Amino acid sequence: MPCGEKPTNRLSAWHSSGATRQPDPSHAPQKADQTSMFGPMPLLPGSAVWQRDRSHSQVLNYHLNMLLDAARIDSYQRAIEASVQPGDVVVDIGCGTGVLSFMACEAGAKRVYAIESGPIIEAARELAIDNGFADRIEFLDGWSVDVDIPEPADVLITETIGSAGLDEGIVAWICDARQRLLRPGAVLLPQRLRLWVAAAQSFDDHAVVADWQSPDLSYDYSAARRRAERTLWFADIEPSNLLGQPELAADIHLATALNETITSAGHLRVDRDGTLHGLACWFDSLLCPGVTVDNMPPRCDSSWSHGFLPLAEPLAVSAGDRLTWELSVSADGEHWTWQLDSIEG
Ligand SMILES: C[S@@+](CC[C@H](N)C(=O)[O-])C[C@H]1O[C@@H](n2cnc3c(N)ncnc32)[C@H](O)[C@@H]1O
Repeated sequence: MPCGEKPTNRLSAWHSSGATRQPDPSHAPQKADQTSMFGPMPLLPGSAVWQRDRSHSQVLNYHLNMLLDAARIDSYQRAIEASVQPGDVVVDIGCGTGVLSFMACEAGAKRVYAIESGPIIEAARELAIDNGFADRIEFLDGWSVDVDIPEPADVLITETIGSAGLDEGIVAWICDARQRLLRPGAVLLPQRLRLWVAAAQSFDDHAVVADWQSPDLSYDYSAARRRAERTLWFADIEPSNLLGQPELAADIHLATALNETITSAGHLRVDRDGTLHGLACWFDSLLCPGVTVDNMPPRCDSSWSHGFLPLAEPLAVSAGDRLTWELSVSADGEHWTWQLDSIEG
């Protein structure tokens, strides 16, 4: 299917709630009393809270879209075949429908601990029975950080990679699993995650900020606008949205990553005249040697969208301009802060 025609993806599953475009700071857990600097954080697609608050149709649709993402499935399948040895104990963090656990069984795992925080785990249990894997998969309902398993695992599999790479909390989950759930030297899948940023022009995507000042609104919504300005949004970024080359913002080796905020800074060069609306971000990830997944624009048939970190006010820029950017993301993917400035013409 050509780019832009895919009817549903991780974002549109949220769109179908009838809400306007919604933020996705992470699929990470949201505690009821958790607040950001602006108050309670929004619900996050994929998180347990999001899943529990959405209808079954939305949760099922969210998972179906990921299962239909052929490139994602193929990469995970190849990486699991290459990484899981017969007799291995495997832990699958965020098993969803159980698809990656099923692949691990097919690769010869003797036991898979499939951890899932959302209600999709009920379907996963039935699917494991229907597909003949129930004798080898133990489903554990809850957040991986709250779950224990009775034996250390040889292999960790997780697809808690968000549209902005870090926003589903993968760094925090893997750091915790390394300490508590895995044997020393266990195989990690993925092994590495890189985050890319690029200067973006997108009037449509910036509307999530600008529309709070629409003349159609009757009251002063600037407080809501300020929240929108500091929110990580989802967007489908096309190459035509990019004002220059991307820059690497983080290169995380998951075997040694620390459970700490990731900070990064750099310079971007503007290659064409336009209006700067924010930073686009996306990821690529090494699942195992020779096997990668990414959501580099254009998105095409991917179930992933892209991250969009808006500027408070759009900025006219010209070819040759240089921009400075700073970014910090908490390891659990919940808190994003960024700065983007033009430094010279
Ligand atoms: C992107 S989906 C992937 C689902 C499935 N593994 C697949 O590949 O189709 C991530 C799933 O992980 C769950 N999840 C995210 N972080 C989790 C965690 N730390 N512990 C348990 N479940 C988690 C979410 O509820 C969601 O169902």
